[in-house]
Amino acid sequence: MKILVTGSTGQLGKTITNHLKDSEYEVKLTSRRKPEDMSYEWVYSDLLTGDGLEEAVRDVDVIIHAATSPVKNSELIEVSGLERLLSRAQNIQHFIYPSIVGIDQIPYKYYKLKYKAEALLENSSVPHTIVRATQFHGFVEKLFLSKPLFKRYVIPGSIKFQSVDVKEFAKHLLELSKEEPQGRTDDFGGPDIVTLSEMAEMKIKINNEKNKVMNVSLPGKLYKSFLEGENTNSSQKTGKTTFEEYLRNN
Ligand SMILES: NC(=O)c1ccc[n+]([C@@H]2O[C@H](COP(=O)([O-])OP(=O)(O)OC[C@H]3O[C@@H](n4cnc5c(N)ncnc54)[C@H](OP(=O)(O)O)[C@@H]3O)[C@@H](O)[C@H]2O)c1
Repeated sequence: MKILVTGSTGQLGKTITNHLKDSEYEVKLTSRRKPEDMSYEWVYSDLLTGDGLEEAVRDVDVIIHAATSPVKNSELIEVSGLERLLSRAQNIQHFIYPSIVGIDQIPYKYYKLKYKAEALLENSSVPHTIVRATQFHGFVEKLFLSKPLFKRYVIPGSIKFQSVDVKEFAKHLLELSKEEPQGRTDDFGGPDIVTLSEMAEMKIKINNEKNKVMNVSLPGKLYKSFLEGENTNSSQKTGKTTFEEYLRNN
């Protein structure tokens, strides 16, 4: 069986690649930049133009589609790019699409596009599994807790996250890849739902930082949806590694 991982230079793609070392899959990777680990077959492809997609998909049985572009050309990559990829993957046995918890509730452009991409896949004839995960630990840390301002984390501290370990999610995707295509399957959430302020305090304590937390409120529906935890799923606390454990080990 041959597996293709798109977005092989990204956070999730790289992690899946690491897990593939222990698998029986023949592996092909694709992205625009070359991955650091060139021990597998790699082909250049661009979802924006379609260049290289034909070759990327050739002779492949399973695809994990970890390529994405949340900001630049997001519609052209998340939706049209997926359409381009699917049109070349008509004979695939299993297409796996990692999505995000709450995309149908949260008023954020990238999430709306992911919802559109889910629908595109659901309406296609390609056998697929869609699995929504909560935000990765590293993503939340990098976005909100990597740049203190004058020794303060200035953050919307009341918003909630149920962040999850990207390694656990990558492993889960590989397990799903060996099962029958399931359509939309259960969400994959982290073990705890905590506020961003609590996450910041954990980081300060673990790293013995002198930084303080300065909470701010933000206007608008996007802020409100994260405040209400629309990005969480309390009935799917599947991941085991807590944010605190992630911080201690990274
Ligand atoms: N980050 C999170 O917290 C999170 C949580 C839940 C689900 N997810 C989902 O998991 C998936 C992977 O996310 P991630 O955080 O790992 O993303 P990422 O780190 O931003 O990686 C994106 C990948 O897409 C590739 N890419 C970008 N533009 C491309 C193009 N035009 N053509 C081909 N490849 C392109 C990039 O490689 P090149 O630039 O080399 O082409 C890169 O390898 C996404 O579907 C995301 O929605 C993410």
